[in-house]
Amino acid sequence: MGRLAGKVAVITGGANGIGRATALRFLEEGARVVIADLNTPNAEAVLEQAAQAGRRDAIRFVRTDVAEERDVEAMLGCALDAFGRLDCVFNNAGIGGAFGPIAETRVEDWDATLAVLLRGVFLGMKHGARVLTAQDQGGSIISTASVAGFAAGGGAHCYSAAKAAIINLTRSVAVELAPYRIRVNAVAPGPLMTELFHRGNPAAAERAILERQPWPDAGQARDVAGVVVFLASPDAGFVTGETIVVDGGLLARGPAVFGGGADSPLLRATGLDRGSTGEPSEVRRLGRR
Ligand SMILES: NC(=O)c1ccc[n+]([C@@H]2O[C@H](COP(=O)([O-])OP(=O)(O)OC[C@H]3O[C@@H](n4cnc5c(N)ncnc54)[C@H](O)[C@@H]3O)[C@@H](O)[C@H]2O)c1
Repeated sequence: MGRLAGKVAVITGGANGIGRATALRFLEEGARVVIADLNTPNAEAVLEQAAQAGRRDAIRFVRTDVAEERDVEAMLGCALDAFGRLDCVFNNAGIGGAFGPIAETRVEDWDATLAVLLRGVFLGMKHGARVLTAQDQGGSIISTASVAGFAAGGGAHCYSAAKAAIINLTRSVAVELAPYRIRVNAVAPGPLMTELFHRGNPAAAERAILERQPWPDAGQARDVAGVVVFLASPDAGFVTGETIVVDGGLLARGPAVFGGGADSPLLRATGLDRGSTGEPSEVRRLGRR
């Protein structure tokens, strides 16, 4: 029995990257899944992968633009028609969106970005909440934020603004829906080896990631999928309003004033720094580590 046996999930952006990895993991864990995406050829490839895993009967694709309210209603309707219930909505579809200096950013590019990244999540929450409250058996709504929602430098201005908004929308909606036992959480990945980040040059992307990230392996879509499985599962039954960072320690590294890891001068010696107290500090040099 998988950790998601009997559950039905809708996954936006399910044709590629994090969404695809999550859809395939959900199938492995016993869930039935609707993938909703704009990219039909990629979605058909996911259906084929599911068929090879013997789970073709447990997956559907519905072409969806998450920025369009009618499309979002239809994708949730697809889950009810095909599988008769809904347990989890994963609002994950995304684009890089508007980029460039703030003074050069066109209003239409800004609006188009927010339409996908933020309105898309809002619509998934709105219609997910309608279906789940009507069903009256609880549920789980999960959205994909980003480390860009916590600090500068993780994405373009509009992308960062949208992802920060998702983190607080998650808290706000979690409080409203808690009485219905609907949990609302998010994942905040760091840079991963998906097309959205590597843009066809995985080797250069991996080098760029490992220059700053403490963990020695570049993150993969499946690393995020595992956390989404946890958030959708009964093991996370008391977790709501939370955003789980999945970034190999990138945010934990913070300002790195004293270096970022084993090379830090703070790790070449040990002792007690008594600051400007007038008391002597103690320093014990360490051998090479
Ligand atoms: N890859 C990373 O490094 C990274 C890091 C942090 C956060 N994220 C976030 O993770 C999520 C998934 O990204 P990914 O890395 O898997 O990217 P990806 O490009 O591999 O997959 C994104 C999918 O979303 C779909 N999509 C885009 N706009 C859509 C729309 N309007 N309606 C329906 N589907 C749409 C695309 O067709 C694609 O299949 C995004 O929200 C992204 O911002 C990614």
